Amino acid sequence: MQDILQQLEEKRAAALLGGGQKRIDAQHAKGKLTARERIALLLDTGSFEEWDMFVEHRCADFGMADQKVTGDGVITGYGTINGRLVFVFSQDFTVFGGSLSEAHAEKICKVMDQAMKVGAPLIGINDSGGARIQEGVASLGGYAEVFQRNMLASGVVPQISLIMGPCAGGAVYSPAITDFVFMVKDSSYMFVTGPDVVKTVTHEEVTAEQLGGAMTHSSKSGVADLALENDVEALLGTRRFFNFLPANNREKPPIWPCEDSPTREEPSLDTLVPDDPAKPYDIKELIAKIADEGDFFELQPDYARNIVIGFIRMEGSTVGVVANQPMVLAGCLDISSSTKGARFVRFCDAFSIPILTLVDVPGFMPGTAQEYGGIIRHGAKLLYAYAEATVPKVTLITRKAYGGAYDVMASKHLRGDVNLAWPSAEIAVMGPKGAVEIIFRKDIGDPAAIAARTEEYRQKFANPFIAGSRGYIDDVIMPRQTRARVCRSLSMLREKQLTNPWRKHGNIPL
Ligand code: HXC
Repeated sequence: MQDILQQLEEKRAAALLGGGQKRIDAQHAKGKLTARERIALLLDTGSFEEWDMFVEHRCADFGMADQKVTGDGVITGYGTINGRLVFVFSQDFTVFGGSLSEAHAEKICKVMDQAMKVGAPLIGINDSGGARIQEGVASLGGYAEVFQRNMLASGVVPQISLIMGPCAGGAVYSPAITDFVFMVKDSSYMFVTGPDVVKTVTHEEVTAEQLGGAMTHSSKSGVADLALENDVEALLGTRRFFNFLPANNREKPPIWPCEDSPTREEPSLDTLVPDDPAKPYDIKELIAKIADEGDFFELQPDYARNIVIGFIRMEGSTVGVVANQPMVLAGCLDISSSTKGARFVRFCDAFSIPILTLVDVPGFMPGTAQEYGGIIRHGAKLLYAYAEATVPKVTLITRKAYGGAYDVMASKHLRGDVNLAWPSAEIAVMGPKGAVEIIFRKDIGDPAAIAARTEEYRQKFANPFIAGSRGYIDDVIMPRQTRARVCRSLSMLREKQLTNPWRKHGNIPL
């Protein structure tokens, strides 16, 4: 008995040391925390239950039989974040560069399977040199086992990927399937092929950071939802983010205590929309002013900035916000903003999170770049996502709601539950100028006639009342009362029931 206890202590001590002090120091020297330090910061103190600490790889090639590290390069288990259950894996770069062996993959799969069985979210911390080169196809098989589970867990439990080191080759496809990807600036990167291969194939000279760093993916590709300054910020940010999420697709998001009155008025909103319809304003100001305690967790803030997405709480409950941003490209919908919005709407719908849509949209972005890029297919994603969503949908038109974009942005016709408008709303097929230039084309040489017609069109359509007269708008509200009206609508919708017809799955235009 004493022997076994001694062995246990030794094995634990070895596992805790991972690839050894020298490699731990090297990890710290890069400004990175170790896999264990990351788990300790992410989870509530003392809550981590580790599994499979004694797992070892089974490879005997290339001298690997003599190089076994207890735990095999990934730390797995479960714990809590603010008292709520979560499963985690954290790749240990000090052990064979965090590379994924068959045994390493089995450890990840075990926590994924358990997370799905008990209905708890999964957070994966990625810091890995990819497939364990010495293992060959066994490692590739391991990756595919993880990918398969990422797909099975999609829409069942929330999955978050933290990229805190290398993540290259096919390995990127596990985070890519998860719901959210957070990267750390300067110490993480993701790419399908690295700078050397890029140089050989396309003759482009590019650094790893330029090709797949946190800024690249959070502003250019949209692969990452956030770029955080360092490991600590990423882990603490993830804890804050986690508080918005439900545990699984059968539960509602948690309700947190809220001091902010649901009827709080915000007089400054009465003047948020400028008199000049061509002048922009910041839609984030509206979001912050109506959210509980002004708390807005924005996702993808630097990508497709013409649409704003993220989570707020209303009366303590999570609400997903999708808002056109008049400050960027006048808030019009293009390829990137449509896909950004669509994916977020689908996450909210999968996890019972009500959607608040704030509309100020002049239409879809014109041009060959957009048409050749497939704005028809990509714009349809947002339309499809809204039309498919059965969660409570509250929509507020603050100013422009023109053309197809009016339909797309959670209109009444796409089963919007409560559709509100500010008095400044303009709901029409297009803006007054464009409309007059088409229907009164013969007057184009006569500026006075065009001006008169434009004014006539503005008087008739640049208001919410025609939509209101048809019931497409449920009410026109005073901007200062927006929080109260939205809170009341969401409260009314709390027990909403709506299901789509049975099918194997729909065919969203991917
Ligand atoms: C086994 C690996 C490894 C790997 C790194 N190591 N990657 N061991 N398999 N894939 C080991 C190194 O031998 C070294 O061991 C330790 O990890 C640290 O690596 P370094 O190179 O010293 O670190 P660094 O300079 O920081 O460079 C990190 C790196 C580099 C950029 C990740 O190691 C690298 O390029 N690795 C190979 C990446 C790769 O090509 N992987 C396969 C990609 S294909 P010691 O003992 O010295 O500490 C792939 C397919 C997935 O992943 C397919 C899924 C479908």
